Amino acid sequence: MKLIVAIIRPDRLNEVLEALYLAEVRGLTASRVLGHGGETERVETYRGTTVKMDLQEKVRLEIGVSEPFVEVTIKAILGSARTGDVGDGKVFVLDVEQVYRIRTGEKNEAAVTPAVAAN
Ligand SMILES: Nc1ncnc2c1ncn2[C@@H]1O[C@H](COP(=O)(O)OP(=O)(O)OP(=O)(O)O)[C@@H](O)[C@H]1O
Ligand SMILES: [Mg+2]
Repeated sequence: MKLIVAIIRPDRLNEVLEALYLAEVRGLTASRVLGHGGETERVETYRGTTVKMDLQEKVRLEIGVSEPFVEVTIKAILGSARTGDVGDGKVFVLDVEQVYRIRTGEKNEAAVTPAVAAN
């Protein structure tokens, strides 16, 4: 199992959610975050030149998936979040040790398998 963490542009969120839905990826968490993507601006001040690190509004998606869903999830995000301009974001893929579905007590793969019609 993996936890896919994607930092995306807020204005791409709807497209990304739609792509994930079409890829049959179910279950995710989204948060509004502030991020810095390496772009720095040099600002002249009376003491000389300083570097300004602006924080941009981004959306952080966290998606726990079983192995068969790892590649389709990454592809769905890459295909839908991209504009081609700097700042499109990042996808991190983390190993997950254990997952539990609280309602049923199911563990690991069973706990991240889409529970179609069960909800
Ligand atoms: N190394 C990183 N660690 C954690 N978060 C990051 C990292 N790089 C980027 N981010 C997050 O992703 C957001 C978008 O980053 P950004 O798209 O600028 O990445 P990039 O690698 O600099 O790509 P680009 O060349 O398109 O600018 C940042 O605002 C930040 O929230
Ligand atoms: Mg950047």
